[in-house]
Amino acid sequence: MGSIERISGPLVVANDMFGASMYDVVRVGTGKLIGEIIKLEGEKAIIQVYEDTSGLRPGEKVVSTGKPLSVELGPGILSQIFDGVQRPLTAIKAKSGTFIKRGSDVEAIDRKKKWEFHADKKIKRGSHVGEGSVLGYVDETGLIKHYIMVPAGVSGTVQSIKSGRFSVDDTVAAVKSGGRLVKISMVQTRPVRQGSRFKSKIAAEVPLITGQRVIDTLFPVAKGGTAGIPGPFGAGKTVSLHQLAKYSDASIVIYVGCGERGNEMTEVLTEFPELKDPKTGKPLMERTVLIANTSNMPVAAREASIYTGITIAEYFRDMGYDVALMADSTSRWAEAMREISTRLEEMPGEEGYPSYLPKRIADFYERAGRVETLGGSIGSVSVIGAVSPPGGDLSEPVSQGTLRVVKTFWSLDAALASSRHFPSINWLNSYSLYLGALKKWYDENIGERFEVDRASAMKLLQREAELKDIVQLVGEDALPDTGRVLLEVGRLIRENFLRQNAYDEVDAYTSLKKQDLMMNAMLHFGEKAQEAAGKGVGTDMIMALDVVKKIARMKELKEEAVEAEGKKIISETDSQFKKLVAEHGIEEEGVKS
Ligand SMILES: Nc1ncnc2c1ncn2[C@@H]1O[C@H](COP(=O)(O)OP(=O)(O)OP(=O)(O)O)[C@@H](O)[C@H]1O
Ligand SMILES: [Mg+2]
Repeated sequence: MGSIERISGPLVVANDMFGASMYDVVRVGTGKLIGEIIKLEGEKAIIQVYEDTSGLRPGEKVVSTGKPLSVELGPGILSQIFDGVQRPLTAIKAKSGTFIKRGSDVEAIDRKKKWEFHADKKIKRGSHVGEGSVLGYVDETGLIKHYIMVPAGVSGTVQSIKSGRFSVDDTVAAVKSGGRLVKISMVQTRPVRQGSRFKSKIAAEVPLITGQRVIDTLFPVAKGGTAGIPGPFGAGKTVSLHQLAKYSDASIVIYVGCGERGNEMTEVLTEFPELKDPKTGKPLMERTVLIANTSNMPVAAREASIYTGITIAEYFRDMGYDVALMADSTSRWAEAMREISTRLEEMPGEEGYPSYLPKRIADFYERAGRVETLGGSIGSVSVIGAVSPPGGDLSEPVSQGTLRVVKTFWSLDAALASSRHFPSINWLNSYSLYLGALKKWYDENIGERFEVDRASAMKLLQREAELKDIVQLVGEDALPDTGRVLLEVGRLIRENFLRQNAYDEVDAYTSLKKQDLMMNAMLHFGEKAQEAAGKGVGTDMIMALDVVKKIARMKELKEEAVEAEGKKIISETDSQFKKLVAEHGIEEEGVKS
């Protein structure tokens, strides 16, 4: 136990901290504010405090808990809204009336609530279990079975296990581990700053399907993969992450609102609880954990929120779930690190960020992955981080650190956003490194044509961009008909495939199958259009065909209707072009090149 020597914003220097260790959680001052030791110099500890430090006085006592910063995990965690150090905001609000009271000792998980624990039928007295073995489950929400696992450091033979109604602290099983009897309850704690263990990493070869066409078709991310989404102010980062949180086919979603404006978080807090799972019609919150750390909350808690989020994500991964974590925005997290580092008077690196920034970013994304869990199932954590580069300049350290590690990059574009092309993902400089790994899955689940079409679409869009440059220089008249028609097909794809309205009930989500049919119809039209243009049919006539409108409006079709309508569109395309070329095409000899 020591005492406060001085206070500097979120940092407190304490004396006489004999016996304390790095990363110990401490209680600071008479208010017992939560803090963490981030530097030790002899008996002097430098503590980052997760709560507002105003009013603290030198001389007040500081007590180490001897434990690292940890989260509590167990039934009751889903649908919760936590702050950066896992204090449940709703429970705190109910208790203290204000939004958050300092030093609040509200448990992360409700201790009183009883849950029906179903012991795994295969596990009996004498069964051998180890860390991560599943002992049974609780039907936590209508959507999710919450598996109860053997905690870290425990392995041995089961002495007892029983089904029944329990609160999370009750013993549900006892295991003889290393000569002692360990009572296992439904709650476990895990340190947040270190990744949880698993058997092995396995290939990320299944796509995380998001229902967002430009993402799924052009720049997909794998389950267990990483994606960065940088964009200037107002480019659509938050809306994009919301779309992913709502529609991606992960079983569990962890949404970390990190240092963004209070109103952006309010949107999440009011909007999310009303959303329904598109597949089951149940509230989406039943598979979601929100971590809210707005810009008006203490900076150190913002630094921690990322770790709190990913530790919760790993916990569900260890049960064998596909988890997706969205962080908005990692730049605010990096700024929190910068602020703390400056106060520590560390040697600054680029743009004042600490020199360890790139490593912290890499370590964070490194915790993503698809794994074989210790319990023997397959689970994944996909990590998607928004980046807010000042002025949209990607050469700044957070963007650079992110670019180096993420395998999918959705680059949001100010020009697209200002012309209301949303999502404003620039198709010319975004990329996904998962295409090769996902090919087999697409071939087997959508059809081989999906990847072929994707490649054709990318080529077409690139060609369109080149032609646009030429038009800029010499005017459209200089283009041959085939070039002019390509520009039109490019526009058709951009406006009706890449663009997607998050606020339209039907358009907000497009299944992979529908994406495939839409893209195929557009490309088929494109091919026919090139042929016709080659035979001298004017671009205006081609684009005036009836079928163009139908193709453009495919996005409005209900999922059930797309397959039949898609077939019809392809055959109408064929017949309309046949007629058009017969009437207006020039005989072979006269073909323009
Ligand atoms: N997919 C979309 N569909 C329709 N509108 C969108 C879409 N994405 C973004 N918008 C529009 O753009 C606006 C700004 O988007 P958003 O708040 O996501 O930007 P941001 O990049 O998070 O900005 P900030 O840097 O301020 O956090 C939204 O309010 C919305 O009007
Ligand atoms: Mg935002």
